Amino acid sequence: MTEFNKVYNREQTKSLKWDNVQTVFNTDDLLPMWVADMDFKAPDAVNEALKERAEHGIYGYTIIDEAIKDNVTNWLHDRHQFIVKNNDLIFSPGVITSLHTVINTLTKKNDKILVQSPVYTPFFNLIRDNDRQVIENELIYDGTSYTIDFADFEAKLQQGVTAFMLCSPHNPVGRVWTKGELEKIATLCHEYDVLILADEIHADLIFKNHQHIPIASLSEEISQRTITFMSPTKTFNLAGLQASYMVVTDASKRIKLAKQLGTQGFNSLNTMGTIALNAAYADGLPWLNQLLVVIEENKDYAKQRLETETNNKLKVIDSEGTYLLWIDCQQLGLTDKELQDFMIQQAKVGLNAGSSYGKPGKQFMRLNLACPKSTLEEGINRIVQAVQTL
Ligand SMILES: Cc1ncc(COP(=O)(O)O)c(C=O)c1O
Repeated sequence: MTEFNKVYNREQTKSLKWDNVQTVFNTDDLLPMWVADMDFKAPDAVNEALKERAEHGIYGYTIIDEAIKDNVTNWLHDRHQFIVKNNDLIFSPGVITSLHTVINTLTKKNDKILVQSPVYTPFFNLIRDNDRQVIENELIYDGTSYTIDFADFEAKLQQGVTAFMLCSPHNPVGRVWTKGELEKIATLCHEYDVLILADEIHADLIFKNHQHIPIASLSEEISQRTITFMSPTKTFNLAGLQASYMVVTDASKRIKLAKQLGTQGFNSLNTMGTIALNAAYADGLPWLNQLLVVIEENKDYAKQRLETETNNKLKVIDSEGTYLLWIDCQQLGLTDKELQDFMIQQAKVGLNAGSSYGKPGKQFMRLNLACPKSTLEEGINRIVQAVQTL
């Protein structure tokens, strides 16, 4: 466990999270706990494989052979009971890249695309930037946790939605959707002939007593109307290496998507991304098991302190997965803008503003838990002390 307690200086590594603070928050004087990467080193197995490859020193075009694909499909089988053929994989530099490609290829201009807000900010831009319309099915918040408003979901599908973007597990609210919820979604999407874009990038980051179920694994029928987006980059902290893949069972969709990606110039992955993806899936599991203990402990620690030491003025959503903590700050009595300024200027922590995840995220903040305990402790101290002065 000690590896996860080590504090590494990430400044001056061209880190988006650590070296871009001034640009994002308009000050240098804060502790960054925002963008979704981790302050932990990747598994030794990955770093060793990368070093070995770097020592070779020749970085020519790299292939993704059947052995690498076997590692991916074995991982999906062993971890998620998701049976995928090697042939159903399409690799791309990132989930965002793939989502652009899928929206462009499998939906039409002005199509209505459904999202469940509050949700990962780029979902909105992805739809709008491709000249499609965002339709929102707001999640129901009961003051403690989030559920799906299925009546509204169906009503929105009836308005002529052609595609639904599922975030599973859900960023930022931390829900790991149950089989029952996924089955209801699947049934409705089938009934209204809606394409499912399942962003499952956080699939491996699941806490005790919860299980991630890939929506495409529910039935052959659903798998045919689903594109699943996955990657080892969140799981093993490899975001900068840019390696991800889609699972596409329907051959006609797969051919169109592969062709479109090729047209955009994405015919293969970069060498180091390929090496890292392979090593992570082959040998990264022991590291991941340790990571999950650390993240869940961090979540419990942060929730307990943020709530009790602020007299419940901050309410922390008890997440079921992901390393992202969703904090309800409504009781502070600040406007959304005041809340953002408060976190930056008084607490001196760099969090993500909840309102960037859509209107229902107003007066919430998102905190990244994937850091050593001492860093988290410092962040919590800062927030608690600032709230106590209010
Ligand atoms: C739900 C979700 N999808 C996609 C991404 C980004 O994926 P990529 O870096 O592969 O484009 C993130 C990153 O935070 C995310 O949370």
